Amino acid sequence: MEKLTGLKKIKTAVFISGTGSNLKNIIKFSKIKKSPISINLIISNTNKASGLKFADQFNIKKKIFNFQSFKKIEKKILILLKKENIKFICLAGFMKILSKNFIEKFDGKIINIHPSLLPKYKGLNTHNRAINNKDKFAGCTVHYVTAKLDSGKKILQKKIKITTKDNPSSLAKKVLRQEHKLYPAAIMKVFN
Ligand code: GRF
Repeated sequence: MEKLTGLKKIKTAVFISGTGSNLKNIIKFSKIKKSPISINLIISNTNKASGLKFADQFNIKKKIFNFQSFKKIEKKILILLKKENIKFICLAGFMKILSKNFIEKFDGKIINIHPSLLPKYKGLNTHNRAINNKDKFAGCTVHYVTAKLDSGKKILQKKIKITTKDNPSSLAKKVLRQEHKLYPAAIMKVFN
């Protein structure tokens, strides 16, 4: 990834579909001096994403796209990203799979956080699967986004112990707390 020149931060968009706790955390991180990125745009595929409130709270532009006709929508998003001079994308709980064509336009500049120790448990219900399989560890991974789901190069990963007391929901909470540390660290790594 290109080195930072001077104090200019890389204009970044965050894509969400839900609560947006990672989004909030990335926004807060982006405001510290050493952050290589600024958050200039929030994109969601649904107006039901409660994380959209952080756009208003932090005065960041937001846009909701209905992903029913994928090709058209992605074209519109690309136009918006260009208009806003967005150079980097963080997916944070975004529940749509972007097309190969879209990803190629931002090659190496889209990253995602996934709540498992990739390559284990790509896709959904990661915590259920880890507990059902009696795994000793769960975790989270920040990785580059490629056309193959949850398969791009790993940037950082954090391992978390699963205890006998854990259920999918307690584990999700534990992992999420670590996600909030991992995502900013991964962003720093990308730009260093
Ligand atoms: C996180 O667990 C993330 O790893 C996954 O979706 C969840 C999003 O949580 N991709 P939030 O919306 O950031 O609170």
